[in-house]
Amino acid sequence: MLKGKKIVVGITGSIAAYKIPFLVRILIKEGVDVRVIMTPVAKDFVTPLTLATLSQHPVIVDPFKANDGEWNNHVELGQWADAMIFAPVTANTLGKMAHGIADNFVVTAYLSAKCPVFIAPAMDLDMFAHPSTKNNIDILRSFGNVIIEPQVGELASGLSGPGRLEEPESILQIIKTYFSQKLDLNKKKVLITAGPTHEKIDPVRYLGNYSTGKMGFSLAEEAARRGATVTLIAGPSSLVIEHPGVNRINVESAEEMYQACMKEAPQSEIVIMAAAVADYTIVQKSKIKLKKSTSPLKLELSPTPDILLEIGKQKKKNQILVGFALETEHEVDNAKKKLIAKNLDYIVLNSLNDKGAGFGVETNKVSIIDRSGTAFHGVLQNKALVAAEIIDFIIKKRTFQP
Ligand code: CTP
Repeated sequence: MLKGKKIVVGITGSIAAYKIPFLVRILIKEGVDVRVIMTPVAKDFVTPLTLATLSQHPVIVDPFKANDGEWNNHVELGQWADAMIFAPVTANTLGKMAHGIADNFVVTAYLSAKCPVFIAPAMDLDMFAHPSTKNNIDILRSFGNVIIEPQVGELASGLSGPGRLEEPESILQIIKTYFSQKLDLNKKKVLITAGPTHEKIDPVRYLGNYSTGKMGFSLAEEAARRGATVTLIAGPSSLVIEHPGVNRINVESAEEMYQACMKEAPQSEIVIMAAAVADYTIVQKSKIKLKKSTSPLKLELSPTPDILLEIGKQKKKNQILVGFALETEHEVDNAKKKLIAKNLDYIVLNSLNDKGAGFGVETNKVSIIDRSGTAFHGVLQNKALVAAEIIDFIIKKRTFQP
């Protein structure tokens, strides 16, 4: 699928650069024509000779050729490439890319790109968490670049947290998925819910859960990339949607999500309820901030509407309904019960017992169960890839193996 594609791999000065010879190797094995470019500091982490040998082409580091005053043509490279992958990208280079500071060959090539650009940041967790890094990533995403989120794990500093470069196999998979996309959801109306709901206690407090919305947002982006007209009903989330094919409706509470969903669901051909909807809300929401006192505070809770159950009751012929189940015990059995009770076609099961899966992480591991009870058990991978996996099952690009 990538055979014959022309891909530029841009490396910057992070210890994770040691993974890139492997990425180049697997790209070459796929039949890709690879050109490697590096920042001067990247040479301290991995040698141009290694990369030139693997890519079978000279590596470009300097904007100018050694002896004759001739320049290396980044504009030509920009026109040549079918894709550019920048990995690892340091906080420094993210800043330069976001603000157009073209003081090395890698950034000039980036600014000359006319093709899809994939950016895989890697750095220490504190640098990654810094607002300036977050801001630069948001800017780069808003330019239409695909950000390959770093993983949580051990870092070169000895600390552990988010900032670890995504593994080369997963980077390859993300690029393959991107290029494999046929418009297999062309003009289909898809409704997706995402994120938590917040149930107000008073003007400054709420009941909520740890969902960030990442899984639902990834599904919305993936469906839109495949040509769907997507409505995303999102609970409170700081995530942004880049694809113009997604119409985002923001809601706060379960009741607001219910109202929005009941309006949208009847005209949707596929409904995917990925939101972590609160099961209870506060009976007496206080209009003024509750004052602290020394006696215990009792909050009376009442059940929220079960949105998916209601949509399931009104399910139309040919409509596909997909629910999520987050379980901690008897996972498959509980998920199967929910699938039947809510009249679903598929249920996507998350187990909180799987490390690296569930809320607040970039990865997920799901099982997908159909009405016959047959389950497909996926592997732990980036949520973008999990989204592609789920959609493939829904539209039967992949089939269940009993
Ligand atoms: N769901 C919903 N409305 C609710 C609660 C859940 O639409 N009020 C949806 C979720 O979006 C998810 C599915 O129902 O797709 C299952 O949610 P989950 O919380 O796992 O199940 P519940 O039915 O709430 O059961 P329990 O919390 O007891 O496991």
